[in-house]
Amino acid sequence: MHSERSKSATLHLCPDAAGIGRAAELLRAGRLVAFPTETVYGLGADATCDAAVARIYAAKRRPAFNPLIAHVASRVGAERQGVFTREAAALAEAFWPGPLTLVLAPAPGLTVCALARAGLDSVALRVPAHRVAQDLLVATGLPLAAPSANLSGRVSPVTAAHVCEDLDGFVDAIIDAGSTQVGLESTIVSCVGAAPELLRLGGISRAAIEAVLKRPLEVHREKDGPRAPGMLASHYAPHARLRLEATCMEEGEAGLDFGGKFGKTGRVLDLSPRGDLAEAATNLFAYLRALDAEGHATIAVASIPATGLGEAINDRLRRAAVR
Ligand code: TXA
Ligand code: MG
Repeated sequence: MHSERSKSATLHLCPDAAGIGRAAELLRAGRLVAFPTETVYGLGADATCDAAVARIYAAKRRPAFNPLIAHVASRVGAERQGVFTREAAALAEAFWPGPLTLVLAPAPGLTVCALARAGLDSVALRVPAHRVAQDLLVATGLPLAAPSANLSGRVSPVTAAHVCEDLDGFVDAIIDAGSTQVGLESTIVSCVGAAPELLRLGGISRAAIEAVLKRPLEVHREKDGPRAPGMLASHYAPHARLRLEATCMEEGEAGLDFGGKFGKTGRVLDLSPRGDLAEAATNLFAYLRALDAEGHATIAVASIPATGLGEAINDRLRRAAVR
């Protein structure tokens, strides 16, 4: 099912009308375009076309059992693809457009292809809040399959330069619109079974989801199998070893700080000197990539509160620390 991973020049596009127009042409022709969303950059292709989606799996070196999120411009577009339970509707109402992905049972009008769904009898849908993503979805008139635009298993990209590090020459075009705002991938909630299930922590906190559903949610447990394969234990893996919950930096270590705990000696990047979790989320992947690129053997990581977005930040750090 995989097409070849062939290398050719990547076009760099501006996020203006001409750039969006060119990107839409490429996508309609079955090509790959990386584009910004409010969470991370996505590697987009026509979600209705098996051949186009096969290029995503090849470019990312992603196992074909790991399904993709289909991005749509609006709730109406999403309703064509998936069946909204009462709870799914409440979540969409509260958080779309935005960093929430809903896994739904397929609707009769489903056009997202089987390869994008990795053959599952469900579909993952998201209405992104980024202006460029919205313009692109409207210009193509297609649902766009878009995983994070990184090599499989590596840190998600929050700038166009990060996309280039992993995929230059393996994507037809990149729309460069600077850094993304949220910095963490979307929160994924499955509304397929009897009760909603939290499949992945992300840009919307568990508390915010629970407030809408008016009930507590369990995070899907890995002993039950990787329901969202992005939940595999080792993911977001940098080359450096991460030493979590560090109270100080040891000789030779670089530091990923939070709230100025490590002081100013040595190579330190502080996710948020003022201890703000949203700011820390925005900086997380860029700082991990930056420190990792410097070749440190170990990065000491300060403890981060497990409240609000901190839960998702700690989740990503734990996965990045698994060797
Ligand atoms: O913020 C985001 O979600 C970004 C931007 C680009 O939208 N996308 C993203 O995609 O993070 P990706 O492919 O890196 O992660 C998608 C996750 C995977 O863990 C996949 O297993 C899960 O969504 N997923 C997709 N379809 C699913 C389905 N039908 N059932 C369960 N999990 C699904
Ligand atoms: Mg990903």
